Amino acid sequence: MTVVSTIAIDVATPSRTYTVTIGDGAIDEIARLLDRAHAPARRFAVSSPLVWRLHGAQFARAMRGVEPILVPDGERFKQLPTVARIYDALVRANADRATTIVTLGGGVIGDMAGFAAASYLRGVAVVHVPTTLLAQVDSAIGGKVGVNHPQGKNLIGAFHQPHAVVVDPLVLATLPRREFRAGLYEVIKYGMTSSAALFDRIARERKAIFARAPEALTPIIAESCRIKADVVARDEREAGPRRILNFGHTAGHAIESLTKYRRFRHGEAIGYGMLVAAELARARGALADADRKALADLVASLGPLPPIADLASSQILEAMQHDKKVVEGRLHFVLPTAIGATTIVDDVTEKELRAALKVVGFAK
Ligand SMILES: NC(=O)c1ccc[n+]([C@@H]2O[C@H](COP(=O)([O-])OP(=O)(O)OC[C@H]3O[C@@H](n4cnc5c(N)ncnc54)[C@H](O)[C@@H]3O)[C@@H](O)[C@H]2O)c1
Ligand SMILES: [Zn+2]
Repeated sequence: MTVVSTIAIDVATPSRTYTVTIGDGAIDEIARLLDRAHAPARRFAVSSPLVWRLHGAQFARAMRGVEPILVPDGERFKQLPTVARIYDALVRANADRATTIVTLGGGVIGDMAGFAAASYLRGVAVVHVPTTLLAQVDSAIGGKVGVNHPQGKNLIGAFHQPHAVVVDPLVLATLPRREFRAGLYEVIKYGMTSSAALFDRIARERKAIFARAPEALTPIIAESCRIKADVVARDEREAGPRRILNFGHTAGHAIESLTKYRRFRHGEAIGYGMLVAAELARARGALADADRKALADLVASLGPLPPIADLASSQILEAMQHDKKVVEGRLHFVLPTAIGATTIVDDVTEKELRAALKVVGFAK
């Protein structure tokens, strides 16, 4: 099958420039895309049993044959022992420096196999073929790889830019609705931080997006990738502008860790986190109430989020203190100032936070 039309987005970072290729059927072009990216010739696939069962046959055919390294992909397996299984398979196969690891899976597979690629022989090439909406619009681009430590999420990691990213929206057909929705909150995040046009498009075409109609889905994926690529190119290591992509993540991460990563999909927690940030901004007079309401309406239009009424604001505040966004004791918040624009502040008080958490629905 040939790809009808593909979109190519270049990500130009100091350490590497690579292309994100987006298009229905893009997976079928993987061999050509790997060659074009000068990805070294010994190619290994890393995937999970589930993803491989769903998409492995098509992928292996497109790769002209590849033996997969299959590892489990739940968040609780995103740990060093799983990465060690990838190393074991590479060592067993005598993988040398001319190796490319091609990841086929969601963010967990991409982060783990990317970390294996960053560290095996001090670094071999990686190409990401993301299969969740979240991985397609977010984790596959930007080079952050790593695993969780029992004491905290993503505590062990590296920056390791891929040689290429291949995004095929057709693989999302098999994605459970809840996972799909979770990815959409991150798309809303891009709209809210960087593009009112994207924000409006999600609101306008919500039904077609949910139906995964290519003409609705591909443009929002491509626009999200463009925004991520642009931000990453300006700030590869998250020293400045890249921090705006943490919008919704300060409260979001606290909600996730407080509920031990069991109640919420990451994107769902970000849904709440964005509401908290928007309410903080509104209360300061930094965001018009109409814009706050537009965000709240769009988040609500995707469907109900897991309940929060049993989570106390004081627990959220406590969890926030352990966040990586605490720099020298000050918590950084990305606040929206309009749809498509943000500012970063470090002077949000506990009182303001408590008030915002209450408005959003957390217990006192
Ligand atoms: N590196 C980064 O910059 C970055 C950015 C955001 C998130 N992340 C990380 O990404 C992870 C979350 O990624 P995720 O949401 O993709 O979760 P995931 O990788 O756990 O995938 C979610 C579930 O979907 C299944 N799945 C994947 N593709 C499928 C498909 N096409 N059809 C059916 N099922 C499919 C998986 O088997 C899994 O059960 C987190 O660990 C997070 O820390 C990393
Ligand atoms: Zn996120």
